[in-house]
Amino acid sequence: MRPKVSIIGAGNVGATTAQRLAELDLFDLALVDVVDGLAEGKALDMAEAGPILGYDTQLVGGTDYAITEGSSVVVITSGLARKPGMSRDDLISANAQIVGDVTEQVMRRSPQAVLVIVTNPLDAMTELALRRSGLDRFRVIGMAGILDTARFRSFLAAELKVSVRSVEAYVLGGHGDSMVPLRGVTSVAGVPVGRLIAQPRLEEIVQRTRDGGAEIVKLLKSGSAYYAPSAAAAQMVEAIAADRRQVLPCAIRLDGEYGLSGVVMGVPVKLGGAGVSEVIEVELTKEERAELDRSAEAVREVTAVLP
Ligand code: NAI
Ligand code: 2OP
Repeated sequence: MRPKVSIIGAGNVGATTAQRLAELDLFDLALVDVVDGLAEGKALDMAEAGPILGYDTQLVGGTDYAITEGSSVVVITSGLARKPGMSRDDLISANAQIVGDVTEQVMRRSPQAVLVIVTNPLDAMTELALRRSGLDRFRVIGMAGILDTARFRSFLAAELKVSVRSVEAYVLGGHGDSMVPLRGVTSVAGVPVGRLIAQPRLEEIVQRTRDGGAEIVKLLKSGSAYYAPSAAAAQMVEAIAADRRQVLPCAIRLDGEYGLSGVVMGVPVKLGGAGVSEVIEVELTKEERAELDRSAEAVREVTAVLP
């Protein structure tokens, strides 16, 4: 039997994550949404793509959590998305209600699951799911760092006219304006980025990375990004459900790592079958250290309003 992965929320991010995972042909998928027919219809549509794309992934969808029973990984994408002019933090009260309820429903059917949280505001929703699930902090993991890092890498690759595969980078911290794209460890084929791009231009790219989500919201005019976010969520699911032990930037509650405690933030982690098995501490410059502390404060402020 293949591991079961459930995705809650069959909207843009949830459905696109499901499609990406279906195409891997490694897991069976259950898709749940509060809107009657939405998850069932999308799951059926994706199952019917199997003969064309060559996958045997079993897909079910519905409104009843019974179909999620025994999941190895559950991805929570349910909730409201940003509209132009809204920050991720504006979503907190509506999404806290949704994520809290969903976490309880999921845990009743899959007490051994690893939870991947996507709903915004990401760091606060990960903290909430951690509290409501009763799981240990290594099994409730937020998706944002892979996305923010991918944006940084794609902008750097375009600037230097190299493949995205040649750009190594990390974006740490909270998933908001205070995120911390690391300049010190960012490199192209091993060459530090500071030797390739002049400081003022690099800072422009850093700022575009911080504004990456808003840039897409402004263009779409309704809703937010989902192609890159779903690619990031699917990468996390694969690392966990296929026990890849891949080092990826993900949000977990810190307990002394990076000198911070009791705050959910993006840091590089080793991700495998049991969730996070190790937090990797990369060397920070003095400026990055100060930025990470400021980011922790920004996350604490948002998290403080959780019910
Ligand atoms: P969407 O509006 O397309 O989909 C959300 C889905 O959640 C809808 O289908 C809705 O019916 C469903 N839903 C609402 N309440 C529910 C409940 N109680 N139970 C089950 N399903 C429920 O939104 P989209 O674009 O998929 O985004 C989803 C969330 O992910 C948003 O909060 C968004 O801000 C966040 N997001 C986070 C990212 C990150 O980097 N962490 C990146 C992209 C989006
Ligand atoms: C993003 O960064 C909206 O958080 C979402 O695209």
